[in-house]
Amino acid sequence: MKMMQLYAALKPDLQAIEERMAAVVTSDLPMLSETSLHLLKAGGKRLRPIIVLLSGKFGTYSLETLKRVAVPLELIHMATLVHDDVIDDAETRRGQLTVKSKWDNRIAMYTGDYIYAKALTVVTELENVRIHQILSGAIVQMCIGEMEQIRDFFNVEQSVRNYLLRIRRKTALLIAISCQLGAMATGAPDKVAGALYRFGYNVGMSFQITDDLLDICGTEKAIGKPPGSDLRQGNISLPVLYALTDESVKERLLHEIGLIRESDGQGGSANAVKLVRSSRGVELAERLADRYINKALQALKDLPDIPAKRNLTEIARFVAKRSY
Ligand code: IPE
Ligand code: IPE
Ligand code: MG
Ligand code: MG
Repeated sequence: MKMMQLYAALKPDLQAIEERMAAVVTSDLPMLSETSLHLLKAGGKRLRPIIVLLSGKFGTYSLETLKRVAVPLELIHMATLVHDDVIDDAETRRGQLTVKSKWDNRIAMYTGDYIYAKALTVVTELENVRIHQILSGAIVQMCIGEMEQIRDFFNVEQSVRNYLLRIRRKTALLIAISCQLGAMATGAPDKVAGALYRFGYNVGMSFQITDDLLDICGTEKAIGKPPGSDLRQGNISLPVLYALTDESVKERLLHEIGLIRESDGQGGSANAVKLVRSSRGVELAERLADRYINKALQALKDLPDIPAKRNLTEIARFVAKRSY
């Protein structure tokens, strides 16, 4: 089954999640509804809710229960995107203007906070303290990851390990707990929830590496924002770090990154992007992304053979090959 067929198969449940998300962020204050619904309406892959639903199939499946996990997880994801676009000074996302560029940074700050708070009110409908703890723990880690990203802007000396720790926090953990909480909420055995967590974690690592590769190799039409945005903001991602170990481009790339830095975000990153593309950095990053996918598939090995297991395999393959 391809991703499209998977969406079709899960459509009624995804639709219910969609409706609940829209209802949850709708406010008496029209402007707050408008800013919060802006990103929601722009679409997105809804990867986290899909993963929650599939993980819920390993326990006693209940849409009502799973909604209380999937809605907050996707809303938390969206809140971080609204904030992330402030940090990254991004003009577009999902092919639309970002909240910060359609309105301004102040509005984006509170829109993100509001979406966060709404997400938390939904999860309290589940009387399971452990779930609340896991969720808030993941938010804490995401904040640290985003702060680390700011700290590491333009740091060309950082190690690959440093990069991996950062993306673990900012991206992989939320995907890992989407799996874990879907399983926990439906009463799946701890061992199953643990294996799903490991699956999600490894998929999440590959997902962010692929995101960073797309920023170098993708097209604006496919990724919904201009490529080269990471470098323009000083975000030194894995393909760039690996490119810096390639003697054939290293000096020129350092020079270009220096120019971007001096221009204070105003200069383009096209030259630097070209150098990274021509280096062995792309292939090395692709290889590491594949390794994480293989680890994710390994984590599924001992899980019961239900159709959802196959679907998770397809998600892992989609993440490895995705172009958007
Ligand atoms: C974007 O996430 C931010 C990352 C963690 C890489 P997605 O690629 O899941 O964003 P949407 O929800 O599909 O827009
Ligand atoms: C992911 O990082 C953002 C979060 C996990 C909050 P990016 O900065 O790479 O995401 P995009 O590329 O803006 O979607
Ligand atoms: Mg960003
Ligand atoms: Mg990115």
